[in-house]
Amino acid sequence: MSGLKARIADLLPELRELRRDLHAHPEIAFQEERTGNLVARHLEALGVEVHRMAKTGVVGVLRNGEGSAIGLRADLDALAIEEATGLPYASRNSGRMHACGHDGHIAMLLGAARCLVERRRFRGTVVLIFQPAEENEGGGRVMVEEGLFERFPVDAVFGLHNWPGLPVGRFAARPGPMMASYDVFEIVICGRGAHAAMPQHGVDPVVAAAQVVSALQTLVSRNVDPLRAAVVSVTQMQAGDTWNVIPATATLRGTARSLDPAVQGLVEEGIGRVAEHVCAALGAECSVSYQRRYPPTVNTEAETRRAWAAASEVMGPDAVDRDPSPSMGAEDFAFMLRQRPGCYAFLGNGVAEEGRNLHSPLYDFNDDALPVGIAYWLKLVEGPASPG
Ligand code: NI
Repeated sequence: MSGLKARIADLLPELRELRRDLHAHPEIAFQEERTGNLVARHLEALGVEVHRMAKTGVVGVLRNGEGSAIGLRADLDALAIEEATGLPYASRNSGRMHACGHDGHIAMLLGAARCLVERRRFRGTVVLIFQPAEENEGGGRVMVEEGLFERFPVDAVFGLHNWPGLPVGRFAARPGPMMASYDVFEIVICGRGAHAAMPQHGVDPVVAAAQVVSALQTLVSRNVDPLRAAVVSVTQMQAGDTWNVIPATATLRGTARSLDPAVQGLVEEGIGRVAEHVCAALGAECSVSYQRRYPPTVNTEAETRRAWAAASEVMGPDAVDRDPSPSMGAEDFAFMLRQRPGCYAFLGNGVAEEGRNLHSPLYDFNDDALPVGIAYWLKLVEGPASPG
């Protein structure tokens, strides 16, 4: 371990530069051309076999004789956010920002690739998966649909995400659900437009929309088992154009999250039922569309144990939280975990100052986590008992 730690420390200034260069040049979903090309160039320079898929995605294959195959995954994309950190390496692309730390994830996996190539202390195949479009667009799903695991078979696949609020050098993963499903819904309420001073001539969709929003709050509080998790958030409410007209329609949009299929089904059914009947009670009609975007991210037991063992070797057994609360955020790594056993883990990004959370304009990846993440990837591949 000490040899590995020393080597990672040697590489750190270069990797920090790389991370900050990525941070300065963020690109959003399926537009990660510079990012993908940079990753491909780095892998080629290491002699790793490089493939391109899912538009801007990159897959590196590293072979060392016969043995099992393991997939390690990082995400490439940034968010549509205007950065407000004022850092010297802040985004140079207006309205784009690495506010989720994917710049750090890329640097860690490239650092791990370099150490794996130099050390060659594993048998079998390592598939380095750099996927595009984690945010919103499901690049992980696209990779799976394009045959990621048929072209590059693995026995297990692993992902990690930096986690603000968790101190650097700490690690958290649990078997079972780790992140929630991500669904979206739209409710279009049709009433009848009228003069605002003569509501008796119309059917007011604004009042119906307000009551639908209130009634939807009962799904989680009254229908879902209190010991199971779900979220229903209405995030958009649009109706009308002026002061003195009752509009004909109102539109609600939002998102639903849950950790298991039964709750997901209950929430989906409930949104339709509540919207339809509340509207009917008020003489309005509605149409509801509900779209399941990302399934829950569910870790398998054996691979979670393997992740714990690797993290314990790097950080010490006390630094590993084996029963963290799942997050109600979502992750398209879920699509890879539906195809192969694996584990998605949180890696401490430090106890953030107020507001410096994921997706905040003040967020920055913590470079102190780079060596921890790299050592974790190495131990995961080489096995916890591998020599330093
Ligand atoms: Ni992220």
